[in-house]
Amino acid sequence: MTDPVAPAHIGHAPSPANPAPLVFITGASSGIGQALAARYVALGWRVALVARRAEAMADWAQAQGWPAEQWAVYAADVRDPAQVQAAAAACLASQGLPEVVIANAGISIGIDLALAEDIAVLRDLLDTNVLGLAATFQPFIGPMKARRRGTLVGVASVASVRGLPGHAGYCAAKGAVVQLCETLRGELQAHGVKVVTLAPGYIDTPLTRENAYPMPFLMAPEVFAEQAVRAISAGVRWRVIPWPMGVVAALLRWMPRWLFDRVVGSQQQRKKQRRSA
Ligand SMILES: NC(=O)c1ccc[n+]([C@@H]2O[C@H](COP(=O)([O-])OP(=O)(O)OC[C@H]3O[C@@H](n4cnc5c(N)ncnc54)[C@H](OP(=O)(O)O)[C@@H]3O)[C@@H](O)[C@H]2O)c1
Repeated sequence: MTDPVAPAHIGHAPSPANPAPLVFITGASSGIGQALAARYVALGWRVALVARRAEAMADWAQAQGWPAEQWAVYAADVRDPAQVQAAAAACLASQGLPEVVIANAGISIGIDLALAEDIAVLRDLLDTNVLGLAATFQPFIGPMKARRRGTLVGVASVASVRGLPGHAGYCAAKGAVVQLCETLRGELQAHGVKVVTLAPGYIDTPLTRENAYPMPFLMAPEVFAEQAVRAISAGVRWRVIPWPMGVVAALLRWMPRWLFDRVVGSQQQRKKQRRSA
């Protein structure tokens, strides 16, 4: 875990003349999070960018030529709830209450449960992908309920649907994300707060670039972001992007266990990947 870093605010507080809606995005220093931020800014939204690499995010945002009042950067490691709470508090104080909070930060690492050292990797996967998502939503739930408006977005994966050999930790984590978001949706619907679960298929980001196996329907992050923002605006409960992977996900979900075991058992175990994030 990195050293705790105080949230850094870069940019300016919004003025009453700039009532543009605000989106809070974790994992905004790379891939899907970065593409989502760019899409929202293009649509005139203000963005709160959160990740550990605050400097990289600020450099990138500055290079985009965005107006200073449209963005701010907060350093936080989502595995540490205190850091996320500090980032959220700084955002609430300087930018206001977001319309949309996207818990996107995540890591994907293959594990082998026969190896003692992979228990620590499993913990990291759960800490980042599950606890990190809960910690991201937590500070905003009360204020959104009080305002009776807002959308929480959980970034899951098609890998949430079934347990895939070599990916026990990632599948378990993303399965937990799906259940957590569904639970929250039931709890918050009476309070006017929506919960959207996005399940990306294969998106071309640093997370997938090391994959040594075929990635059907691989999609550019910019295209993903465009479709994701539309799904979030529509307040859908669940959306697989790209849609052909939705068909794959539905087939996998409804496949009887005996057939699923035969299909995945016939595949060579996917090479375990290790990736530091
Ligand atoms: N790419 C795909 O095909 C795909 C498919 C299904 C689901 N997803 C999900 O989509 C999300 C984004 O993935 P991506 O493809 O964009 O991956 P990526 O390019 O590797 O980006 C991951 C982002 O998460 C942030 N992050 C990781 N650990 C963090 C931590 N402890 N605290 C704060 N931020 C952290 C990273 O920022 P820092 O390193 O700067 O902290 C980075 O901004 C993930 O949840 C992933 O599981 C991706």
